[in-house]
Amino acid sequence: MRHRLNHVALVVPDLTLAASTWRDVLGAEVGQPLPLPEHGVTVVFIDLPNSRIELLQPLGDGSPVSRFLEKHTGGGLHHLCLEVDDVIAERDRLVAAGVRVLGDGQPKIGAHGNPVLFLNPADMNGTLIELEEVSP
Ligand code: CO
Repeated sequence: MRHRLNHVALVVPDLTLAASTWRDVLGAEVGQPLPLPEHGVTVVFIDLPNSRIELLQPLGDGSPVSRFLEKHTGGGLHHLCLEVDDVIAERDRLVAAGVRVLGDGQPKIGAHGNPVLFLNPADMNGTLIELEEVSP
């Protein structure tokens, strides 16, 4: 299986400032902030010619990225997202190879409306990896 890089997610302490850095300093195409209460984040999508960046800021209490920001107060790399054709088949293949999946192991609907899963960073050399099912 060869995975495409779908996006790189960065947690930032100040979404407005980060969006302006990407738009005004780097010259990237930056979207509007999109609150996703069910995921506990507000996200800004940035389109690059060959991939996407997502800026994440905690939204509400118990946001999954709040703890990250407590440890990395200046923000930083949160996860990489790889595209797969069939997230269940890829999960089963990876679990058989000894990789642990976070949560209950069932895909959830992610920020792009597609099923996603997260792999345990301890089994991925320290990096959180998201798998997103994207119809070919
Ligand atoms: Co993601």
